[in-house]
Amino acid sequence: MNGEPTQVAFAPHKTLLEVLREDLGLTGTKHGCELGECGTCTVLLDEIPVLSCLVLAQACDGRRVRTVEGMATGEGLHPLQETFADLGAAQCGYCTPGFLLTAEALLAAIPTPSRDQIREALAGNLCRCTGYLKIYEAVELAAARMRGEDAQPRPETIHGR
Ligand code: FES
Ligand code: FES
Repeated sequence: MNGEPTQVAFAPHKTLLEVLREDLGLTGTKHGCELGECGTCTVLLDEIPVLSCLVLAQACDGRRVRTVEGMATGEGLHPLQETFADLGAAQCGYCTPGFLLTAEALLAAIPTPSRDQIREALAGNLCRCTGYLKIYEAVELAAARMRGEDAQPRPETIHGR
């Protein structure tokens, strides 16, 4: 669990989402539709984004689970967390953990994604607040920073359109 060997006892019918929130106290993973439609419960299972409301916790025995709580390191926030904050890509924030983890997996696979690749990767994550543009821009800026380029957000992006 977020890089640490973890043991937890839980009722066998529980989903990964339920065990994370109720048994491990990791409430960064959000509870939305519970139907596999909103993406807000997304976590990484062996570094692949999954909808934790549709995964039985028992199926995660011996596997690596990462949640938003595992994104920041001792050195600070993950670049995606920084750019979501810098560019206003998180408003109410309810969808944000799912977007962050989905985007992290995308950037691990494709360090220089096109706007279409970002849009496609994030298509399963719904946001009621932002209109998505700021989220796409935040992913692009984080990708640039992770490549060592463009360390500052574009001024027109910070002040909006
Ligand atoms: S709560 Fe899992 S997809 Fe909506
Ligand atoms: S920031 Fe509110 S749902 Fe996305």
